[in-house]
Amino acid sequence: MLVCLIWYACIGAFACLHNVPSMPASRTRVLNGLQEKGSLNVLLIVADDLRPSLGCFGDTVVKSPNIDQLASKSNVFHNAFVQQAVCAPSRTSFLTGRRPDTTRLYDFGSYWREHAGNYTTLPQHFKSSGYITMSVGKVFHPGIASNHSDDYPYSWSTRPYHPSSYEYEKKKVCKGEDGKLHANLLCPVDVSEMPEGTLPDMQSTEEAVRLLKAVKHESHPFFLAVGYHKPHIPFRYPQEFLKLYPLENMTLAPDPEIPKGMPTVAYNPWTDIRKREDVQALNVSFPYGPIPRDFQLQIRQNYFAAVSYLDTQAGQLLSALDDLGLANETIVVFTSDHGWSLGEHGEWAKYSNFDVALRVPLIIYVPGTTAPTPKPGDKTFPFLDPFQHTPDTVSKGTVVREVVELVDLFATVSELAGLTVPPPCPDSSFHVELCTEGFSLGDTFSASELKINAEAIAYSQYPRPTDLPQHDSDLPLLRDIHIMGYSIRSCDYRYTEWVGFDPASFRVHFQDVHAGELYFVATDPNQDKNLYNITEYAGVVQRFRSYLQK
Ligand SMILES: *[C@@H]1O[C@H](CO)[C@@H](O)[C@H](O)[C@H]1NC(C)=O
Ligand SMILES: *[C@@H]1O[C@H](CO)[C@@H](O)[C@H](O)[C@H]1NC(C)=O
Ligand SMILES: *[C@@H]1O[C@H](CO)[C@@H](O)[C@H](O)[C@H]1NC(C)=O
Ligand SMILES: *[C@@H]1O[C@H](CO)[C@@H](O)[C@H](O)[C@H]1NC(C)=O
Ligand SMILES: *[C@@H]1O[C@H](CO)[C@@H](O)[C@H](O)[C@H]1NC(C)=O
Ligand SMILES: *[C@@H]1O[C@H](CO)[C@@H](O)[C@H](O)[C@H]1NC(C)=O
Repeated sequence: MLVCLIWYACIGAFACLHNVPSMPASRTRVLNGLQEKGSLNVLLIVADDLRPSLGCFGDTVVKSPNIDQLASKSNVFHNAFVQQAVCAPSRTSFLTGRRPDTTRLYDFGSYWREHAGNYTTLPQHFKSSGYITMSVGKVFHPGIASNHSDDYPYSWSTRPYHPSSYEYEKKKVCKGEDGKLHANLLCPVDVSEMPEGTLPDMQSTEEAVRLLKAVKHESHPFFLAVGYHKPHIPFRYPQEFLKLYPLENMTLAPDPEIPKGMPTVAYNPWTDIRKREDVQALNVSFPYGPIPRDFQLQIRQNYFAAVSYLDTQAGQLLSALDDLGLANETIVVFTSDHGWSLGEHGEWAKYSNFDVALRVPLIIYVPGTTAPTPKPGDKTFPFLDPFQHTPDTVSKGTVVREVVELVDLFATVSELAGLTVPPPCPDSSFHVELCTEGFSLGDTFSASELKINAEAIAYSQYPRPTDLPQHDSDLPLLRDIHIMGYSIRSCDYRYTEWVGFDPASFRVHFQDVHAGELYFVATDPNQDKNLYNITEYAGVVQRFRSYLQK
């Protein structure tokens, strides 16, 4: 959601205003000339549970040379936030261009076409504009959330592909210290010993490359979405990636304790992690733990290793795009469905309203716009081996610090490809098939002058069953949701208010305030010092409150 009265033209430098943004006003974004470029293809790469722990976002531990190389030729959005920090609601939101309150999906249990409205999706919009649209891996959330069909045939020209070896993902395939096989959280494997001798993301890369070869000669442009499964738990990945992260080089989160001012309703008890056999063996107490220090370091190590493995899959896919001569006519979007807490404020996994769970990488490459059009024979995305990689040799790309939302993707990708941009949704839009609650970020691509809207804000939300953490607090079913945490991220602040919610009527009771949180991000980037009750911030709280109620 973009709110602005004032525009800041900043070249390079960007500063927060250190105040609360002014009241929302409508705006239009103007994009110069991009529509004329004709029908560019789209390659949308979606990672699962990936926070921006990547070299191109300034992480100095993680080795991600291929994603960094993509970023070096792209617009890199450093403040991109999802609308709800869990898979199905987030994916449904950005693929329909609507917020969870409009898709009415806060859990995994309903299909928007039957439960909310018959909304046109991002791939469907491309399909009806003459594109061949294809889905590989986890794009829509599988199961009820996409009617057990990944929304085929509405969204896709061909039947979506799922890697067969995903069947073994949660099985007892991880070698434990006792030499036996377990369903562990930490699961570095010898791929040749795995059922089918492969891993899901490797199969997805192979299928995506096969599809690229097949559609290259078609007269229609394509929209290919590739949803990788990593770094989602279990951390099942080729064991050699562990060598990139010696345990002695690992550190804990900068703030591994649960902060005193954190309301109980804000805390997510990371139930999915507790279910894995290696974590069960630790006998961690519910709901607060903590996980032993050594195991915390291992979780971080394994997460980073899974990220580097993901990076090689993305790298192979991009290098194939290049080899097929498609890098000069394909928009590449790289993002994730949400982030993941790695021990920050004593929390793990997603399921919360903190930046660690809501902030995602967003990288958009537009040939001829974010990088010069490659000449025949030039390599744009040569595969980079993370084991050979020397850090800090590539540019960090065009950094965009404006606060943006994944709900903006629908309008942005449509505009970049020269399609009709879906109109803004009216206040009640359940009956409107094509509209969006996001805005096109097209103007961040105009090369001459990078306009930054320092007043932009992002809205997110998370549901809870109760004030105190219990076993379904991470992922309550719709009928058990009695509290909704609405959160606003501005340039300077994160403001969250937990209010009463009625799952039968979907009514929000803003007067029924269960808890509040206010963090000043500039000095408290991890959000550990809750300022909600501090008298001098009462005015700030009031203004954020008034936005939420709108
Ligand atoms: C929903 O929309 C699709 C096309 O987007 C259309 O084919 C279908 O008939 C619509 N269904 C209903 C119930 O309106
Ligand atoms: C969802 O799937 C069921 C079973 O295949 C089908 O009968 C129904 O029409 C589908 N819903 C929509 C909106 O297509
Ligand atoms: C581990 O840390 C040491 C000391 O800082 C450093 O020399 C080494 O390169 C690091 N290893 C890796 C794989 O990053
Ligand atoms: C803020 O004040 C309310 C009302 O006195 C209290 O219930 C709540 O625990 C306080 N929150 C924090 C974070 O101190
Ligand atoms: C697990 O922890 C509980 C309480 O902290 C304790 O009573 C129990 O004996 C522990 N079990 C094992 C197997 O260590
Ligand atoms: C992209 O490059 C390929 C191979 O070099 C060439 O055939 C094609 O015409 C180029 N496309 C555009 C839009 O320039």
